[in-house]
Amino acid sequence: MSMNPTNGAVAFESPNMASQQMLEISDLNVYYGESHILRNVDMSVEAGKMVCLIGRNGVGKTTLLKTVMGLLMPRRGSIRLGGQLITTKTPDQRARLGIGYVPQGREIIPRLTVKENLILGLEARPGGVAKSQEIPDEIFELFPVLKTMVSRMGGDLSGGQQQQLAIARALMGRPRLLVLDEPTEGIQPSIILEIESAVQRIVRETGISVLLVEQHLHFVRKADWYYAMQKGGIVAQGPTRELSNDVIQRFLAV
Ligand SMILES: Nc1ncnc2c1ncn2[C@@H]1O[C@H](COP(=O)(O)OP(=O)(O)OP(=O)(O)O)[C@@H](O)[C@H]1O
Ligand SMILES: [Mg+2]
Repeated sequence: MSMNPTNGAVAFESPNMASQQMLEISDLNVYYGESHILRNVDMSVEAGKMVCLIGRNGVGKTTLLKTVMGLLMPRRGSIRLGGQLITTKTPDQRARLGIGYVPQGREIIPRLTVKENLILGLEARPGGVAKSQEIPDEIFELFPVLKTMVSRMGGDLSGGQQQQLAIARALMGRPRLLVLDEPTEGIQPSIILEIESAVQRIVRETGISVLLVEQHLHFVRKADWYYAMQKGGIVAQGPTRELSNDVIQRFLAV
């Protein structure tokens, strides 16, 4: 087992020189029982970019993210991470290969402290748990509120603080792709802005790629590229600076 470089960067094994894609989804078809949920989905996230998936309630956004994480298996199609085929890998394997996932509804553990919740994130590191169980300063620079609360129970935090904890925990695994499912859902506006700027800093300063599902237009606009989903299929995409009012009205609950 080889140690990681001390700077925490995840080394790319056999990089696919033909593409700079961190995530490539091709012809993905996913069913719940006999109901066909995702239809022929093609999507990619370029390395170092933030991509936002938009779409109304129930169109299949969470289903897509769960399939990326390996919680659901596609009936057809493929998923690549940094060029490597991961379609048949388990969620644990995908976590160790560098996907950090923050599910919708932020599943932190209420009866563990903030620090203990963060330590759980170490399990996703390649090669297993790190030697040191210290929380890196960068985590607290991104989410200063967590520093003042390390000994508090997760369940005592506000919704916005829990969401910050959930993102921080995902970062503890040193992902190369961070997958966020509606991180601002049900959170008060001032905290939405904090989460938004933390995610922007993550992309800019660490080079981590982000796949985000989000409904708040302000946040959506921070992404580099958008995909719009309807009835389980991708029906529009482009740079977020070109998001038209028509697209916004059709695919966001504004
Ligand atoms: N466990 C399940 N079993 C069967 N059908 C499901 C299951 N989970 C979701 N669905 C159905 O799959 C479709 C897509 O759901 P999904 O949760 O992916 O939508 P979403 O776009 O994330 O919605 P929201 O904006 O409300 O989070 C919906 O019609 C939903 O009812
Ligand atoms: Mg959802």
